[in-house]
Amino acid sequence: MGAPLKIVPAATVSLEAFAAAFTDAFRGYYHTVSHDGASLARRVRLEQYDLANSLLAYDGREVVGVAALAVRGRRGWCAGFGIVPGSRGRGRGRGLMSALVARAREAGLRRLSLEVMAPNVAARRLYEWAGMSVTRDLLVLERAAARAGDEAAARGASITPRRARAAGEASAEELLAHYWRLHAEPPAWQRELASLLAADLRGLYFGPRARPRAYALTGRAPDGNTYVSDLAAAGAAEAEELCAALARTPGALRVVNEPEQSPFAAPLLRHGFAEVTRQHEMTMEL
Ligand SMILES: CC(C)(COP(=O)(O)OP(=O)(O)OC[C@H]1O[C@@H](n2cnc3c(N)ncnc32)[C@H](O)[C@@H]1OP(=O)(O)O)[C@@H](O)C(=O)NCCC(=O)NCCS
Repeated sequence: MGAPLKIVPAATVSLEAFAAAFTDAFRGYYHTVSHDGASLARRVRLEQYDLANSLLAYDGREVVGVAALAVRGRRGWCAGFGIVPGSRGRGRGRGLMSALVARAREAGLRRLSLEVMAPNVAARRLYEWAGMSVTRDLLVLERAAARAGDEAAARGASITPRRARAAGEASAEELLAHYWRLHAEPPAWQRELASLLAADLRGLYFGPRARPRAYALTGRAPDGNTYVSDLAAAGAAEAEELCAALARTPGALRVVNEPEQSPFAAPLLRHGFAEVTRQHEMTMEL
């Protein structure tokens, strides 16, 4: 097992140092997770990381692990968890996870959640050992850029459907006034209202502007991809109409962490989106 870990709050080091540790802890992961101070600051702002309760694990003077905790009210969300490659498989993950759960309890949180990629059996087992269980699956869906003609339109970054006359454009701020009325299935953490309000998004909607029946918000991320950050609808028919409209928008689109049982998942798959990966959302009461 090795010597006990020394656990310190992330707030005791610079954001750059925490970002470097985060990057090291995710080496060899399914996709590159690489942060610098600026990119981590963006996530802190969008996802409400709590740096006083996020943790760094040291073995002597070496950083061996990172556990990022985001907080909204009494809910906590583990925004990133990893052990540096040379220290894996020696109980470090268990030590850090125990410290994270204890810290979340001390901070007065009632619930802890996170996502784990479906193939990540090691992480899932660790979280189950800590008392977490899978509550639902979240899908990552992608629609590749369409024909060449659409590419030219995509450069304008417009999300106006080319043939859907009924859809209007409105600011995210205006449409988000209808957030609570139009979500039958609770969105994943990164797509909750607090994240959406902090992001730079644009919207399209169906129905009366004063009381839309459905809306979608999209935004361009620093990685160059256009993400659908919010999907909202009054019912199944409206969800279908919205997904059909998204299918007509030009350029590649990604929908991250759409709940499998949401009213949008099946229509998106019918309208040209493909599942590229899925995550298990895991939760525990504290
Ligand atoms: C997942 C990760 C955090 C586990 O940390 P670790 O220090 O290697 O884990 P531990 O040695 O404490 O092992 C704890 C438990 O995790 C599971 N586990 C760890 N490595 C595993 C592996 N290679 N295969 C299967 N299960 C594994 C086991 O259940 C293990 O308990 P056991 O040894 O009694 O079987 C680490 O592999 C990692 O950082 N991976 C890259 C980043 C990542 O995937 N983060 C999670 C994102 S959700």
